[in-house]
Amino acid sequence: MIKTINVQQLKVGMYVEDLGMSWLNHPFLRTRRLIKSDQEIKKIKQYGLLSIKIDTTKGGDVSPAGDGRPQPQTMILSPGKPQPETIEPEELTNETLAALADTVSVQDEMAQVTRVYSEFLNRTRIFLSQVQIEKPINLEEVASDLDELIQSVFRNRYALSALIKLKTFDEYTYTHSVNVCVLALTLGRFLDFPVPMLRAVGIGALFHDLGKMAIPEEIINKPGPLTMEEFGEIRKHPYFSAKLLRNADHVSRETIECALFHHERYGGQGYPKGLKANEIPLSAQVISLADVYDAMTSERIYRKKISSHETLRIMYAGRAVQFDPVLVSNLVKCLGVYPIGSLVKLNTGEMGLVMDIDSHDLMNPKIILINDSDQSDPHSPQILDLANQSGGKSKNARRIVGVDAPEKWNIDPAKYLFNDPSFTVCCSG
Ligand SMILES: [Fe+2]
Repeated sequence: MIKTINVQQLKVGMYVEDLGMSWLNHPFLRTRRLIKSDQEIKKIKQYGLLSIKIDTTKGGDVSPAGDGRPQPQTMILSPGKPQPETIEPEELTNETLAALADTVSVQDEMAQVTRVYSEFLNRTRIFLSQVQIEKPINLEEVASDLDELIQSVFRNRYALSALIKLKTFDEYTYTHSVNVCVLALTLGRFLDFPVPMLRAVGIGALFHDLGKMAIPEEIINKPGPLTMEEFGEIRKHPYFSAKLLRNADHVSRETIECALFHHERYGGQGYPKGLKANEIPLSAQVISLADVYDAMTSERIYRKKISSHETLRIMYAGRAVQFDPVLVSNLVKCLGVYPIGSLVKLNTGEMGLVMDIDSHDLMNPKIILINDSDQSDPHSPQILDLANQSGGKSKNARRIVGVDAPEKWNIDPAKYLFNDPSFTVCCSG
């Protein structure tokens, strides 16, 4: 039975169902939890809550006298009865994230986070289609997934942004929303955003284009060029996105600004307001970079995708016009000059797939050598760390002289970069 109790009645052995507070305002990764220590109770009380909900079928109840002592009978589990879910007190704070920083290898993190990403993609698709039929936005439904993604970009700074570019997906709208979220979190980590800002920007990224649902589909999906009138309709979508978010509970100002200003441009040529440079909120500038990067590196019906390296080069060339020069430099630094999965050409005539990046030496990543007929064995790859070659920096040392498209050589980077060659990310069903 779900029961509301005074927070002072909370005891070890009780199962918290709901803290009665928005996920944006507390640091816990999961609100539902079996209370296992007084320390957890102390932390919950620190957040100034007056009452919380407990589930007495999963943990202790208050005693009939109301003194908060858990009733012994509800604490004793029947033999064979499934144990209640016990969740360690996990919090998402700047300190817990700092402790995670780059503790996992890129390959291990990609393998670990693939399931999370895939599930988040499916849940986002369902969630956004429900919003389309005017169901109110409930941030709690995406809170736990978003927190998992935040932890992933801390465990390894390159893995998640690489993962999203190693597969192409059919449902661009949903995939794009999640990918912009991943990229915004990756850049947010690089910019040292604190946890509340990371969450606000993550939510803003996920819903930045929500307002497109209010634009006629034939305009949104028109394969050819838009008329002035049609473009005028498209230009309304940031307003619509912001309006939908304003109507939702617990949405922060940064999140609304992400949606409202994600098409503003540094030189003032964007919309809806034509803001310039620092007039554009930082959160919106982050979404804007993530939005453009993902759009250019994604395959569309009307155009081919552009490689990550080439996209960054084009975006960098547009600095001070399209984007803040410092921010676009930071995007290059946080994704790598040769992002993971790039096919690079070496001075020796060999080719290699970028598999890891040294954040202190972006020009010399770790690569998997590929022969030009793609007969290399993905299971026993020949790995070369360009930053640490036996020849050092001699003129005979291998170095990158260009990039090429993996598709041109019929190379699937995912086959080489995942420990599991059957790697797939599902977004249908
Ligand atoms: Fe947009």
